[in-house]
Amino acid sequence: MLKSTLFWFCALISTIHATLVTDVQGIAFQSPFAGKSVSNVTGVVTAKTSGGFYISGTSSSDVRASNGLFIFSETTTVLNKVAVGDMVSVTGTVSEFRSSSDPDDLTATEITSPTAANVVVLSTSNTVSPVKLGTDRIPPTQALSALDVGPDGWLSVPNNQSRVDTVNATLVPADYGLDFWASLEGQLVTVPSPLSVAFPNDFGEFWVVGDWPVTGLNSRGGLSITIGPDNIPDANPEAVIIGAPIDGTTNPVVSLGVTLSDITGVVQYQFGFYYILPLTAPKVLTTPTTTAPPTNITADITDICIVTFGDYNVDNFGPTATQLPTVASHIATHLLSPDIVFLQEIQDNDGATDDGVVSSNVTLSALVSAIAAVNGVTYDFVVIDPVNDADGGEPGGNIRQAYLYRSQKINLVSGSPAGTATEAIAVSSSSGVPKLNFNPGRIDPSNAAWEDSRKPLVAEWQTNGGATLFTVNLHLESKDGSSSTEGNSRPPVNSPVAKRTSQVDLVAEFVQSVLDIDSKANILVAGDCNEYLETRSVFASLTDIMSEMDELADVDPVERYTYVFDQNSEQLDHAFVSTALSNRQNAIQHIHVNNWMANIDERASDHDPSVGKVRLC
Ligand SMILES: *[C@@H]1O[C@H](CO)[C@@H](O)[C@H](O)[C@H]1NC(C)=O
Ligand SMILES: *[C@@H]1O[C@H](CO)[C@@H](O)[C@H](O)[C@H]1NC(C)=O
Ligand SMILES: *[C@@H]1O[C@H](CO)[C@@H](O)[C@H](O)[C@H]1NC(C)=O
Ligand SMILES: *[C@@H]1O[C@H](CO)[C@@H](O)[C@H](O)[C@H]1NC(C)=O
Ligand SMILES: *[C@@H]1O[C@H](CO)[C@@H](O)[C@H](O)[C@H]1NC(C)=O
Repeated sequence: MLKSTLFWFCALISTIHATLVTDVQGIAFQSPFAGKSVSNVTGVVTAKTSGGFYISGTSSSDVRASNGLFIFSETTTVLNKVAVGDMVSVTGTVSEFRSSSDPDDLTATEITSPTAANVVVLSTSNTVSPVKLGTDRIPPTQALSALDVGPDGWLSVPNNQSRVDTVNATLVPADYGLDFWASLEGQLVTVPSPLSVAFPNDFGEFWVVGDWPVTGLNSRGGLSITIGPDNIPDANPEAVIIGAPIDGTTNPVVSLGVTLSDITGVVQYQFGFYYILPLTAPKVLTTPTTTAPPTNITADITDICIVTFGDYNVDNFGPTATQLPTVASHIATHLLSPDIVFLQEIQDNDGATDDGVVSSNVTLSALVSAIAAVNGVTYDFVVIDPVNDADGGEPGGNIRQAYLYRSQKINLVSGSPAGTATEAIAVSSSSGVPKLNFNPGRIDPSNAAWEDSRKPLVAEWQTNGGATLFTVNLHLESKDGSSSTEGNSRPPVNSPVAKRTSQVDLVAEFVQSVLDIDSKANILVAGDCNEYLETRSVFASLTDIMSEMDELADVDPVERYTYVFDQNSEQLDHAFVSTALSNRQNAIQHIHVNNWMANIDERASDHDPSVGKVRLC
């Protein structure tokens, strides 16, 4: 009896020659059938696009093997043959398809261009229950890939040490985000109660988390980069990007903290990320307030010991910048006119026109006047014009750092001339007191680490009471050229991390040269570092000798963000203080005037400003 059943079963298999969708997908990143023909792959059509259709086959008890699959076809006779709900049988060739020419993109498994004869409709009007994320399957919350090895996880240096498609690991969906989403490739899934964690990109695509466990959630509804419980930076793998709706509807405009109606769609890897392509556009349910509260760190113009400071990357700010009145109002009414403002990305007097103009006095005067028009506070400014076209950024814009200061309270220490673009700052001992050769001056401007990059602007200040403060205003090299967090290169390429590290090292060297003369010197280093503190290796030389103010002030780690990119709320803008200042009263806040806007285009800058306070005496 047993023997005859077995015989019958084997006979059935050998005549039907069917391959299951789960076998085509396999349990690793690449299909075991890549490049091979498969017959009679059966499933129910869950979605149809102009480029093919998705099927859902019999599921497996092994969650690593997806039972969803994309059938690529742009042939009308094929596309006209199938409708959502049809049970189809497909015979064709399996391929690992890359959606772009970028080798950093992962591949997606598909059956490529079956003939119409090889697509057979077996029945119609079948239904498929989507996989309910958060209930049926729960994304991991810490790591993206087992290949992100090193003390800083996905932010480790060296990066780009291995490739997902070359290693072709067996999936571990419970632990790694790439593996989790790969194990759902091609499947129909539902995101219950989506929360938007970013602005849409240029294609109207946006990142969400659903009603499932998340880590790093900030009070606004974004996902901050934090250090996980294993002391490794959390990569926020529980977020997923929502692509263009399959039915041709248009995604709503979202922002940080917007909630939406449930999203049902298919999982597809494309353009560097695991996407969910929604069947139709979701609706916005709630939108949080766009009113960011102003700082409660207030300046007291008569206090000769306490100095408040603002720090603001004002985003390619020329004299006729459209954001000028908004930035002025931010400084006056949200930052409450700090004693010193560290600015980055001030452009020259004719903005991005590339004609040799490098002076920025018109730009800075326009900002100063606009602030005075808001609240009557008058600022002076300090700046060193760069060599034309030598410091990177928007061509012709000659972006540079500058300080605004309230001369009623604080002024540059006199007695040293202002340095030029090419003169290096140096400090010497004047009877045990550190003295700058130039005030202001730039750190080692001819060093290769600053090539095509903004040199730090150093100044020494003195309050009316005589207390002194050294400041360094930074704008380190940007992350341009970095690879996707969900791409092949593991850990992801962090570009150019070696250069940024050298830049930090040069700043630390300067700070140490002041401390060597006076270990109790008041030193404040602040600005746009284009790096997260969680990339610990980059900041090591500086954090050895200074304290980062968010750490010092014990700001809730999830509230430390000044920038939103992909799924992450992240802190690119930092302030560091010397021991003399860290031992006294201090405070810092990030004021979300830009990243809380309802629309990405309404932001005055891509960065949020910060306000801090230090006690000099
Ligand atoms: C596919 O299955 C059908 C029966 O459903 C069978 O007649 C056919 O031979 C199979 N095709 C192949 C190529 O095995
Ligand atoms: C990927 O791994 C699967 C499962 O081990 C294997 O069947 C397949 O051949 C591998 N593909 C490549 C290109 O290494
Ligand atoms: C990453 O490594 C690959 C070799 O695996 C190399 O081709 C590529 O250029 C590297 N990318 C960067 C940005 O260094
Ligand atoms: C200032 O605001 C912070 C939150 O940003 C809050 O924790 C603190 O209590 C406030 N301080 C005062 C004095 O209101
Ligand atoms: C800018 O500097 C130039 C040259 O020193 C001067 O003639 C001009 O008046 C200044 N403009 C403003 C607005 O300060």
